[in-house]
Amino acid sequence: MKALVLSGGAGTRLRPITHTSAKQLVPVANKAVLFYGLESLAEAGITEVGMIVGDTAAEIEEAVGDGSRFGLKVTYIPQERPLGLAHAVLIAREFLGDDDFVMYLGDNFIVGGITGLVEEFRAHRPDAQILLTRVADPRSFGVAELDASGQVIGLEEKPRHPKSDLALVGVYLFTPVVHEAVRAIEPSWRGELEITHAIQHLIDARADVRCTVIEGYWKDTGNVGDMLEVNRAVLEGMERRIDGEVDSASECIGRVVLEPGARIERSRVVGPVVIGAGTVVSDSYVGPFTSIAENCRITDSELEFSIVLRDSSILGVGRIEASLIGRHVEVTPAPSVPSAHRLVLGDHSKVQIHS
Ligand code: DAU
Repeated sequence: MKALVLSGGAGTRLRPITHTSAKQLVPVANKAVLFYGLESLAEAGITEVGMIVGDTAAEIEEAVGDGSRFGLKVTYIPQERPLGLAHAVLIAREFLGDDDFVMYLGDNFIVGGITGLVEEFRAHRPDAQILLTRVADPRSFGVAELDASGQVIGLEEKPRHPKSDLALVGVYLFTPVVHEAVRAIEPSWRGELEITHAIQHLIDARADVRCTVIEGYWKDTGNVGDMLEVNRAVLEGMERRIDGEVDSASECIGRVVLEPGARIERSRVVGPVVIGAGTVVSDSYVGPFTSIAENCRITDSELEFSIVLRDSSILGVGRIEASLIGRHVEVTPAPSVPSAHRLVLGDHSKVQIHS
C-alpha cells in the first residue's frame, strides 16, 4: 500500500502566517502539521509516499527531504496549479500504479493517527473508505449524507445547505478503481476536479464505499482559536523532557519540554509548554499551553496559551495571552511619550490592543 500526500495549493486561510509559508508547515506544538501526518503513515506500515507539491515545493522539500528520517521514501510529484484533489490523483497515476493507497491531505491533523483505519481497510478492502467527523459549520467541507444503516448515499462539496454535520476528513483510502472515477468527472464551479465528486461517481456506480466516523480532527480553517486548541490538545499529551539549561533562579513545573540549546533564566515556566532549540526565556513567566519555536527571545514578559513561531522576540511587554505570533516578529514596548501604539503589521494581521 502506498500513500499520496497533498502538500500543494496556496495557503490563504491562516493568514497572515501562510502568506509566506506553506500551510502544511504550520506548527502544532513546535512540529509541522504535515510531519504528524507523515509519522502516522510510517506508523501504519506505509513506506512509499508520493508528495504532491505546488508553489511552495522548495519549502516542503527542504522540510521533508527524502523522507528517510520518518522512515519513508518520498517521491515528489509537481502539480502546476492547485487543480483539485482528484487532479492530484490523476497526475500521480504512474507513481501509484495498481496499488491501493491512502490519500492524506497535508494540512489535516488526526489525533491518534490512522493505523487502525489502514488495518481495517486492508482487512476488508472496500473500493473506497472515507473518514467523517462532526463539525459545527460543515459549509467549508465536503459533507456526507448517510442512510439509516449508516451507508453513505451522497456527498456534496462545500454545500450552502448541508444535509448533515458530517464533514469529510482529509484521509481517504482507495483501491485502483478510483482512477477510472477521477477520469470520469468534470471540474466543479470552483474549477477544481473534486475528489468528493469522484467518490460520488463510485457510489453512483454501486461501488463499495464505506465510512468511519472519527473524533479528534483539525484542519486549518483559518480560525486561530482552533489552532490554539489543537496546540493545547497535543501539548496535553507530552512528557516532561529538559534537554536545555535552567538556571538556579528559575523553575520549570510539570510537563515542560526544553529542547537542547534553549535556556531559562530567572523565570517561571508552568507546563504543558514546549520551548524550541536556541530560545532564551529570561525574567519572564511562560504559562500552560504555550509553544515557543526555535531561536526566540522572551524577556521581561508573560506568555500563556499562545504560539510563537521561530526567530521572534517578545521584550518587556507585560502579559500576552491567546495569541499566534509569526516568524521574525518583534514585540517591544513603545516609548512612554507620546503615549501611542506603534505598529508595523503585515497584510491580514489582527491586533487587539488593551487601552
Ligand atoms: O480538509 C478536509 C477537506 O479537504 C474536505 O472536507 C473537502 O471535501 C476537500 O475538498 C478538501 O477541502 P479544501 O477546500 O479545504 O481543500 P484544500 O484546498 O485546503 O486542500 C487540501 C490540501 O490539499 C492542502 O494541503 C493543499 C492540498 N492541495 C489542494 C489542491 C486543491 C493540493 O496539493 N493540490 C490541489 O490541487
